[in-house]
Amino acid sequence: MDGNGRWAKRQGKPRSEGHKAGSEALKRAVEAVMEAKIPFLTVYAFSSENWNRPAVEVKQLLDLFMRALTREIRELDEHGVRIRFIGDRTAFNAALRDGMRRAEKRTAGNQTLTLNVAVNYGGQSDVTQAARSLAEDIAAGLLKPEQIDERSLAKRLALHDQPLPDLLIRTGGEKRLSNFLLWQLAYTELHFSDVLWPDFGAEHVQLALDDFARRERRFGGLSAPEARAESA
Ligand code: FPP
Repeated sequence: MDGNGRWAKRQGKPRSEGHKAGSEALKRAVEAVMEAKIPFLTVYAFSSENWNRPAVEVKQLLDLFMRALTREIRELDEHGVRIRFIGDRTAFNAALRDGMRRAEKRTAGNQTLTLNVAVNYGGQSDVTQAARSLAEDIAAGLLKPEQIDERSLAKRLALHDQPLPDLLIRTGGEKRLSNFLLWQLAYTELHFSDVLWPDFGAEHVQLALDDFARRERRFGGLSAPEARAESA
């Protein structure tokens, strides 16, 4: 969800106004995704690198999360949204951690859309903690080094119990992953949009889905016509 700061600057507003508009855009995106009957959505709300921003902006962002948690949770729950948070939440204050825990608990049984919110998340640290967990099991004699494979590592990653992402959308014109779901995105289709996140709406979600529908996914194999020709 990139471009909040630039959106605010263009309007001569403080960056916090950009984040506020960004949270409205997130509501619209969630609605559009539900309309399209997509069952899983993961948003990057706060990266482990975002702590490097000025303290006042970090505080505004965390306040915004807290307010969103208290204000939106009922509506999300009523619409069948299950909320999950991924990332290291130990760095957040007790009130925010408690709010996250309660939101997860309240919506745990919902099935229409699983909304994963990545907060203080980093893809490298996700893989690192999975490696550490494997090492701990080896040290405890529960696992042998030769038993380590992609599956045993993937089982210890965030979102291990959900399907791998089909489509990644990055707004705001940058064309990089910025440490988001590095392992999980191995075969994900990438869609980059120049639209700044606060301007992102249902029509842009649809453009991304249309773009995705035109992609030919081979997962390292052959295209369907090639495979048919080979087997003929
Ligand atoms: C990146 O834009 C955006 C963020 C670091 C924060 C994302 C947060 C929201 C969209 C707020 C709503 C989220 C929730 C979960 C309520 P940027 O500030 O890096 O923009 P810039 O690149 O233009 O400076």
